[in-house]
Amino acid sequence: MVEAFTELAAPFYMQIKLIHLLAVMVWLFSTAVAYQNYLVPAFQAWRASPNDAQAIAMRNLAIERFDKGVVLEHVAFPVIMITGPVLWLVTGYGAESDWFVFKMLIVFGIFLPIEIMDYYLSHFGGNKARHRHAGDMEAYERDVEMHWRFLVSVTWPIVFFGVLAVVLAVLKPQF
Ligand code: HEM
Repeated sequence: MVEAFTELAAPFYMQIKLIHLLAVMVWLFSTAVAYQNYLVPAFQAWRASPNDAQAIAMRNLAIERFDKGVVLEHVAFPVIMITGPVLWLVTGYGAESDWFVFKMLIVFGIFLPIEIMDYYLSHFGGNKARHRHAGDMEAYERDVEMHWRFLVSVTWPIVFFGVLAVVLAVLKPQF
């Protein structure tokens, strides 16, 4: 079954790699401008004046838009996680390839748990617009705070390990 699938996919190796690579680009960079130039300034202004109604309104607008904007990233991630294993089947990279082992440790040890939490905070239980529509402003505040703490904690690890994963995949170093 797996062999038959691998044989079927093999002639499309380059096309699958192209889709993998395009999805990596979207996943890694699609939220950068919004985060840096809209979300961070809105949260900084709110932190400086926590009771200012306009600062709160800007913060809420920014985080709700971010919940929507991150959809691109969250469509790209499953595309990576589907095309990656297909490439792995076709190429046969394994334990003897240091770059591949390190990349898998990063993907499954760092990216996957972070993304699960990110999906939850943006689209599921932590979705801010849903709390607002339900009139649950206590949950709204709690999840805005949690989402902000989450974003501040994961941004630099994602940038660092994201770039590292790309470097490993492209340069394929042996240690
Ligand atoms: C967010 C996670 C991932 C990132 C950032 C990433 C990044 C990349 C990049 C940039 C390439 C292109 C390398 C090149 O053309 O030289 C690549 C190729 C590849 N990736 Fe991923 N990848 C990810 C997830 C995965 C997963 C989960 C797997 C497998 C389980 C995987 C397996 C592969 C394989 C086998 C190749 C082909 C290497 C080659 O033939 O040159 N990737 N990846």
